[in-house]
Amino acid sequence: MSTVAFDVEAVRKRTSALDRPLVFFDGPGGTQCPDEVIDAIARYLREDNANIGAPYETSVRTVELVERARVTAGRFLDCHPDEVAFGPTMTSLNFLLTRCLGRTLVRGDEVLVTKLDHDANVSPWLELEHDLGIVVRFVEVRDDLTLDLDDLERQLSDRTRVVAFPVASNAVGTAPDVGRIVELAHGAGALAWADAVHYGPHGPIDVSGWDVDVLLCSPYKFFGPHLGLAFGKRELLESWRPYKVRPAANEPVGHRFEHGTQQHELLAGFVAAVEYIETLGWEAIVAHEHELGRRFLDGLPERVELYGLRSMEGRVPTFCFNVSGRSPEEVAIELAAREIAVWHGDYYAVEVMRKLGLEGTGAVRAGFVHYNTAGEVDRLLTALGEL
Ligand SMILES: Cc1ncc(COP(=O)(O)O)c(C=O)c1O
Repeated sequence: MSTVAFDVEAVRKRTSALDRPLVFFDGPGGTQCPDEVIDAIARYLREDNANIGAPYETSVRTVELVERARVTAGRFLDCHPDEVAFGPTMTSLNFLLTRCLGRTLVRGDEVLVTKLDHDANVSPWLELEHDLGIVVRFVEVRDDLTLDLDDLERQLSDRTRVVAFPVASNAVGTAPDVGRIVELAHGAGALAWADAVHYGPHGPIDVSGWDVDVLLCSPYKFFGPHLGLAFGKRELLESWRPYKVRPAANEPVGHRFEHGTQQHELLAGFVAAVEYIETLGWEAIVAHEHELGRRFLDGLPERVELYGLRSMEGRVPTFCFNVSGRSPEEVAIELAAREIAVWHGDYYAVEVMRKLGLEGTGAVRAGFVHYNTAGEVDRLLTALGEL
């Protein structure tokens, strides 16, 4: 991979939350916000706070902001601005969109989900199974925790209506081959339904190039505020009967799936977050994260058991591991005492934890994003060596 100049210290100065001893390896649970994101939220509330649809200046500016948020989302996801819907969280948007699709499903229809998925892309389908008598099947993962595409292919049938899958695993970091999954899904006449929440901070989302039918993500995982964002192909969204109140506008089509007054201040923060990423560029972000990930993998102490891929190919720098003789909780507490923030548990990635035999106890998770440094990775490695 080419080396791209990336001045991580200069980048960190834009996020004053990072200016403390605590090392943030908790990005998979939510990232820190650059000051420009926080300022945009505060500025909106101070200067423009209003509902939409009135002729006075703050309302007019709020309408402009909502439009700008759509255009920004279109740029971020590579889709038409009309094809996006904002909502409180990815989970709530996914329950909503799956319910809308559910209105077209019949008993015996099948949905494939994967054992790499976060439960936010599993339980909405299980609820439809409960309500409608559809069949949900789980695609296997291999021992190296990559997705078993042969199993996916085997499980496809003429009853398959949806293949739901993650663009990256929030537990073990695996990034499946999106192009191939979409190809297989479409080959069977099924929709490709992508969860890009975990992938969001790690690389460019390209719904057009990937040709996914639905994709969901969460701006709070990519340096923005707590918010959900969904894409759906226009013809698909137009074909569904939405759950909406009668007076709400039917256009743009994505708006049919937005409920009530939007969180306008968070849309301002979302726009600023995407603009922040654009000033850095994905190439630099990817190269820097790759270096951090390699450093971690190369330096792992022997007592640490890593789950998943041992190279940076086919993954993002999210690492799931246990330290022999220590519970994940103990490790997380010890690291917190050394001012290193990591997560422990199952992170709602129920099936992959089950596959690893870690149901109940879970594992430790350290996730790197572009604002982390090589020095921070070394601090983690040293601490793990000392445990
Ligand atoms: C891969 C993945 N999907 C979905 C979600 C749920 O996102 P939200 O909190 O926006 O509902 C998460 C949250 O951690 C996640 O990591």
